[in-house]
Amino acid sequence: MSPRSKLTLGTATAATLLLLTGTASAAQPGSPGIGDPYYPNAGNGGYDVSHYDLRLNYQPATDLLSGTATILARTTQDLNRFNLDFLLKVGSVRVNNRVAGFTQEGGELVVDPRGELRKGSELTIVVTYSDVPSSHQVGGVSIWKRTPDGALAIDEPDIAPWWFPSNNHPTDKATFDVSVAVPDGVEVLSNGLFNGTAKQINGWTRWRWRSVKPQAPYLAYVAIGQFDVRHSTAPNGQPVVNAYSLNLGADDSAAKASIERTPEVVEFLEESFGPYPFEAQGGVVAPGIGFALENQTRSTYDPAFFRRGANTYVVAHENAHQWFGDSVSVHRWRDIWLNEGFASYAEFLWSEHVGEGTAQENAQYVYDSHPATDEFWNVLPGDPGAADQFHGAVYDRGALAVHALRVAVGDEAFFTLLKRWTQAKKYGTATIEEFIALAERVSGQQLDELFRTWLFTKGKPAVGPGGATFATAGAVAEPPSYRKIRETHELLAAGHAH
Ligand code: TRP
Ligand code: ZN
Repeated sequence: MSPRSKLTLGTATAATLLLLTGTASAAQPGSPGIGDPYYPNAGNGGYDVSHYDLRLNYQPATDLLSGTATILARTTQDLNRFNLDFLLKVGSVRVNNRVAGFTQEGGELVVDPRGELRKGSELTIVVTYSDVPSSHQVGGVSIWKRTPDGALAIDEPDIAPWWFPSNNHPTDKATFDVSVAVPDGVEVLSNGLFNGTAKQINGWTRWRWRSVKPQAPYLAYVAIGQFDVRHSTAPNGQPVVNAYSLNLGADDSAAKASIERTPEVVEFLEESFGPYPFEAQGGVVAPGIGFALENQTRSTYDPAFFRRGANTYVVAHENAHQWFGDSVSVHRWRDIWLNEGFASYAEFLWSEHVGEGTAQENAQYVYDSHPATDEFWNVLPGDPGAADQFHGAVYDRGALAVHALRVAVGDEAFFTLLKRWTQAKKYGTATIEEFIALAERVSGQQLDELFRTWLFTKGKPAVGPGGATFATAGAVAEPPSYRKIRETHELLAAGHAH
């Protein structure tokens, strides 16, 4: 849905040449990337997806994933060829019911529609495939996670190509129908609304899920295995689906004592961020993830977050991402502060709400606990680079930047700004520069200096995020909440190291 695609200069020049030589066609190949400097091959040019229908089968014993992806899209240029991001072995491709040619290399599925597609045409792309995801590696690693009883398709920002063909960039959101057939007795979780199960004749059951609001491909997920699945209704009337792996062992109770509070956390966050943007709520806990991820409507968590008892901070973090990351997504991956800075700040707000330390105390503590010589201060939350996209500093220094803004503009302007932002950018993508512009408009203040200091300048700012300075570490006591928040950020930031 509405990416900002544009013809490249090279394409325009080639088109002109074709016209000069008298060839009637201006159709060109779609580009293999959407133009994101952190991930040059992510996403593709030339079309805009509106819906993915994924009808899959998965056998845990062999890790065989097979099925059909039906993709509804519209061309945004005259096309004679286009790419999808996909790693698994394809059996066939059809475009508008005609058999298409295809090649696969380097995570790109290149489709030859055997004819030209005019700009603005509707496309129905049908891809059949069958493969063992764990047999693949990219850069020497597999991010497809097999578990003793199933598998998890969960990662950021690159999981989509491991299980379905897509335009894998947040700038092309779409709705999703995901159904997976598995041997009877195995459970399947995915995003959005539960659409029921259907018994098949072969001793398998098909689980059906539907995500009805625009969703970035990396936020689509499946968790397959043995789960205790719990259905309930949130105070706002929305369906809640939580699921707990049967292999949580000693972490089971603490996991449930945290995730079962999701609707309460969502209700609390609505006070600061405005109405919850999606149709359902919930959380899934499964071993083997190694981190937590803000999958749309249904975040997933490694049990490690609950090893030392209940942790509602990680629940606040992942659910804050439903606004900051999932509904309002990054325009380019360099804008990651818009996700992690705000999700981390939500933990400070939750801490204050539950009486375990104010946001100010948490911010001051983080500022004090990192001496000026700490490498922490050399990661720029406003442009950390692909390698440091999920560095701990993006979370912690990112949260300090949010607090510095709050102190500078005052609570009234700050919370007005957050609500206006989530409303104005709902279901879309945004840049840090757009956030700064709105912050200046809402507050009536010139904020370039503040954002330059906190997001774009290396080194420890001389003045803390609350406006005060303490000379030495240990000047303020650690708020009770920060023990959990630190643990949460250590696990989340480590997630990227795989
Ligand atoms: N975005 C996730 C969160 O903050 C954590 C995360 C960072 C992650 N890097 C990742 C998850 C890589 C999966 C893969 O909640
Ligand atoms: Zn996060």
